[in-house]
Amino acid sequence: MVNSSSSYVRVWFITGSSRGFGRALAETLLDRGETVVLTARNLQQVEDLTTRFSDRTLAVQLDVTKPEEVQDAVKQAIAKFGRIDVLVNNAGYGTLGAIEEVSDQAVRRQFETNVFGVLETLRAVLPHMRQQRGGHILNISSVSGIVSGAGSGIYDSTKFALEAISEALAKEVAPLGIKVTIVEPGSFRTDFVTRSLVVTDTQIEDYEAATGHIRQIVRDVQDMKIREQGDPKKAALAMIQAVDSENSPLRLALGPHAINIINTKLESVKAELDTWKEVSVNTAFEEVVVGETQVAS
Ligand SMILES: NC(=O)c1ccc[n+]([C@@H]2O[C@H](COP(=O)([O-])OP(=O)(O)OC[C@H]3O[C@@H](n4cnc5c(N)ncnc54)[C@H](OP(=O)(O)O)[C@@H]3O)[C@@H](O)[C@H]2O)c1
Repeated sequence: MVNSSSSYVRVWFITGSSRGFGRALAETLLDRGETVVLTARNLQQVEDLTTRFSDRTLAVQLDVTKPEEVQDAVKQAIAKFGRIDVLVNNAGYGTLGAIEEVSDQAVRRQFETNVFGVLETLRAVLPHMRQQRGGHILNISSVSGIVSGAGSGIYDSTKFALEAISEALAKEVAPLGIKVTIVEPGSFRTDFVTRSLVVTDTQIEDYEAATGHIRQIVRDVQDMKIREQGDPKKAALAMIQAVDSENSPLRLALGPHAINIINTKLESVKAELDTWKEVSVNTAFEEVVVGETQVAS
């Protein structure tokens, strides 16, 4: 990664640059003098940026569920700039509904974008980063990648998957000089709730008590009765700070709400682990010395 004192020449590749976090990050980077591959399903949505920053942008058509578009977008980026320094896997949407309410087709569609789209992009970009022996991957997960809630379990499961993929990937690519950061935003004021949530058609009355609350929050945000706390511009700055850092985090939670939710989860996992420790430990063979990982010979 080259970083001169007067200008940044890092090349960022962002999926879903048209709106929300992707757009906020792209604008912030371009204002700072960096180079951005703006990818979008509808290129008209990034036209203003390519006009304003014509020498430091490349706009490429990219729907992450279309492998040929992913491969082509990366090829175009390399052809124009010769490298990709930071990949931001940001494109995504959410599915709202109790586990039983979401159809198989809707689950698969959700994984196509939030998980398989990320995997395809990783497979396209990693050969270049491995060759460069450097790079940084930001995978936009969510607090939902740590805590799963009633009514959003399918979306949450895609973010849990992204967390596992990212955690393993970080260990695999660290020796090659490539870093991975999982970004875990709480609730941010993007188009996510208004335009990127798909609500199930099927609603089973029995689940109303458990999921009615989340559905109501979504309606209240859509009607602007309540607003999301997080500012996407500040999220963009935090992501850039994480990439700039010598000690980039594996996980970066964003927003006070995210910190509270994740802390509560960590404490409850620890408390339950301790409460059930004896039962858990007693499942080992007799010859195993508790506290050691090796089986006695
Ligand atoms: N906002 C939050 O509170 C929040 C919290 C935690 C995590 N997140 C995560 O943040 C990421 C971005 O969401 P956002 O909040 O910025 O929402 P947003 O404003 O609705 O933006 C969603 C972006 O994803 C793009 N996208 C969706 N499906 C795509 C596909 N198949 N191929 C390419 N692009 C696609 C959209 O493109 P189009 O314009 O073409 O639709 C748009 O650019 C998502 O991964 C989301 O899960 C958001």
